[in-house]
Amino acid sequence: MVQYVLDKHDRPMKDLRISVIDKCNFRCTYCMPAEIFGDDYRFMPESELLSFDEIIRLVKIFARFGTEKVRITGGEPLMRKDIDQLVARIKQVDGIKDVAITTNAVFLVKQAKKLKAAGLDRVNISLDAIEDEVFKKTNGRGIKTAPVIKGIEAARAADLPIKINMVVKKGMNEDQILPMARYFKETGDTLRFIEFMDVGNHNGWNMSTVVPKKEIVEQINAEMPIEPLEAQYYGEVADRYQYSDGSGEIGVISSVTEAFCSSCTRVRISADGQLFTCLFASEGYDIREMIRNSEEDQAIISRLIKIWTMRDDQYSVDRKNGVPTTKTKIEMSYIGG
Ligand code: GTP
Ligand code: 5AD
Ligand code: SF4
Ligand code: SF4
Repeated sequence: MVQYVLDKHDRPMKDLRISVIDKCNFRCTYCMPAEIFGDDYRFMPESELLSFDEIIRLVKIFARFGTEKVRITGGEPLMRKDIDQLVARIKQVDGIKDVAITTNAVFLVKQAKKLKAAGLDRVNISLDAIEDEVFKKTNGRGIKTAPVIKGIEAARAADLPIKINMVVKKGMNEDQILPMARYFKETGDTLRFIEFMDVGNHNGWNMSTVVPKKEIVEQINAEMPIEPLEAQYYGEVADRYQYSDGSGEIGVISSVTEAFCSSCTRVRISADGQLFTCLFASEGYDIREMIRNSEEDQAIISRLIKIWTMRDDQYSVDRKNGVPTTKTKIEMSYIGG
């Protein structure tokens, strides 16, 4: 029987985002800047990562609280060995209806078919520019768009529903808004523009680097008319729009100018088994320790209830209201967005 638990703002504990690795083959300037995540950067040793058995045990526990959606993130999740096996096992958990991966797509060329066969429901693919010269800079590794486009094509060939995520940052890629929209209007994939956020401590965020949702929508609408769509479900992060000519839709994720904390039902687990109740939290709760100390499910369940009923996070609302937020934050590559 499902046992719902509510936080201090009456938000149920529901969607699970599990990071499976902190490494990535990219060095996106806003996420893992190469100057900081260099050759001598110490990523998590394998022994620190939650094993698949440990992850499955957690997913089963969360399913008892009504979790239906699980998203696998990284770093780059496809760098974790045998990730298709994890997908297959998550899919078998009673109550889990939707398993998705957020990826930069490069490894989809090799893995898309396997992932589909394992039962993966869909992929969200990060791509910040369609022009090589811009993309080579945003990914910090001089990688052209072709390997990502090939990954997208592999996902399509494998029949995986696709959404494209484009982080928009002023001075980095705002000139790519229209070229990206034109490209993905043609392919029919849903493109989502994401307002650049102040995640982590190294990405040099300030308000002047954000291209607000309103500006993005106006730019697109001026060339390719769009109309707003209703949300598909409670707590959807993207505001959706459809092209008036019927050629698909776009989304805008506006956590800076229009915070969506009031319906945030997301739990995040880092690759080393720390639980975070907000993307902008400074500290997590050590769930791995409980698992590795052979604690009973009931002890873990009681701890989760305690953590969630105390949850008061609404960072994006606070930022908008000018509430000072000076604390150190966890890194995006650690928590997976
Ligand atoms: P869908 O289920 O396909 O809608 O996935 P999603 O949009 O929730 O996940 P995805 O990993 O594609 O994330 C897209 C963007 O939304 C990323 O920049 C995330 O960091 C951001 N995002 C997702 N959830 C939250 C959240 O709870 N708070 C904030 N501030 N941003 C979020
Ligand atoms: N602001 C907004 N989105 C970000 N992402 C990574 N860092 C940021 C940031 N600072 C996006 C990635 C990926 C998703 C998980 O989060 O591009 O699409
Ligand atoms: Fe890697 Fe994604 Fe971070 Fe880019 S945004 S460095 S692809 S984890
Ligand atoms: Fe949820 Fe925190 Fe994002 Fe608000 S800022 S939507 S509370 S993760």
